[in-house]
Amino acid sequence: MLGQPSRSVISELPIAGRLRADGADGLHDLRGRALHDLRISVTDRCNFRCSYCMPKEVFDKDYVYLPHKALLSFEEILRLAKAFVGLGVQKIRLTGGEPLLRKDIEVLIGMLSRLKTPQGQPLDLTLTTNGSLLAKKAAALKAAGLNRVTISLDALDDAVFKKMNDVDFSVHEVLAGIEAARQVGLAQKPGTLKVNMVVKKGVNDDQIVPMAKFFRGQGVSLRFIEYMDVGSTNGWRMDEVLPSATILARLREHFLLVPAAGSPIGETAERWMHTDSHGRADPNAGEIGLISSVTKAFCKDCNRARLSTEGRLFLCLFAGQGYDLKPFVRGAGALPETDPEAEQTLAQAIAGIWQQRDDHYSEVRSQQPQRGQSTPKVEMSYIGG
Ligand code: GTP
Ligand code: 5AD
Ligand code: SF4
Ligand code: SF4
Repeated sequence: MLGQPSRSVISELPIAGRLRADGADGLHDLRGRALHDLRISVTDRCNFRCSYCMPKEVFDKDYVYLPHKALLSFEEILRLAKAFVGLGVQKIRLTGGEPLLRKDIEVLIGMLSRLKTPQGQPLDLTLTTNGSLLAKKAAALKAAGLNRVTISLDALDDAVFKKMNDVDFSVHEVLAGIEAARQVGLAQKPGTLKVNMVVKKGVNDDQIVPMAKFFRGQGVSLRFIEYMDVGSTNGWRMDEVLPSATILARLREHFLLVPAAGSPIGETAERWMHTDSHGRADPNAGEIGLISSVTKAFCKDCNRARLSTEGRLFLCLFAGQGYDLKPFVRGAGALPETDPEAEQTLAQAIAGIWQQRDDHYSEVRSQQPQRGQSTPKVEMSYIGG
């Protein structure tokens, strides 16, 4: 397992002033980036074996996953989430592995959905799933307070999809999950239902246009993601990356697209709208997005923190180590929960970590590919997409 700074090191980090409960000090990292998003991994397990994430040869029957007792409990997650929300986090995304494999996940969603920002606003609470259990769980997730959902789907053709998921899982079951999400009202606002397609050159790139045709007018924002060098098990090679510029050019052979207006700071996708017969952006036809972490780094506005399944705080998807927050909420040295001073100590520790943040891996990789690839990196299934 990767090493991590100990709690004593964390508490020694310099902290700029005393934090106000409303985060109004404006918590920024060394590159001036605010803390806005928290992605929480709730399990390191998945029932798929996507070659770009959990290749079968590595994640086989002998692979050792985290034992149940190492996982943060729902109460521990809630406590840490509260501290992040007090520091300015407005969006929480649950990830995995596959988050719907975590037992009683809807209970956690219920707990998180009751959190409010210091300004009294509800959180944007969402989840990334492979869709395999969504048909079964969509109603319970919505009832618990989930606002929206992002589903991964790498192909429409069954044979290609099975090659991508490597566990013989069929497209129609994921489509049933997407339909269930729609039926229960997880797609009420435009753009709330998202489908992510990781593109691997020569494996599923023939699915780009069929996917765009299928989801046009379906109230789904389809995002094409460049295959990334996350983790150290997927055997990533640059020649398997299809640059977003090429993806866009292929799409433009079939659709008239215009740039979408109004992306929030930190948006990962470059968004394009389908158009009507007059060439005007057509909200009914919907949008597509291009996530170009390899060819067009978006570190400049990266406002995402990641909490691993066992409570380590990672400041970058490509980080080699995380800061262990579990000792703040579990064990002999844990802070007492009902004590406001203790909550302030936890918030200060997190703030101190964020204020020291300088990560910008994708930019480094594009400027110095050798240095980028030699860095040890955590697996995506461990900290979540
Ligand atoms: P929204 O809240 O819906 O805007 O989500 P998002 O775009 O932040 O989240 P999503 O989890 O759908 O991200 C889509 C994909 O973009 C991920 O699965 C990753 O492949 C990639 N991605 C997301 N965040 C980052 C990031 O911080 N760095 C890099 N390099 N890639 C990211
Ligand atoms: N490259 C790009 N995206 C990846 N994901 C996982 N591994 C990779 C990778 N190597 C993302 C995908 C998937 C989500 C769960 O994680 O977006 O949909
Ligand atoms: Fe599972 Fe998602 Fe990773 Fe595929 S990308 S193995 S579905 S966690
Ligand atoms: Fe953020 Fe790291 Fe991704 Fe850059 S590479 S956008 S810093 S997570």
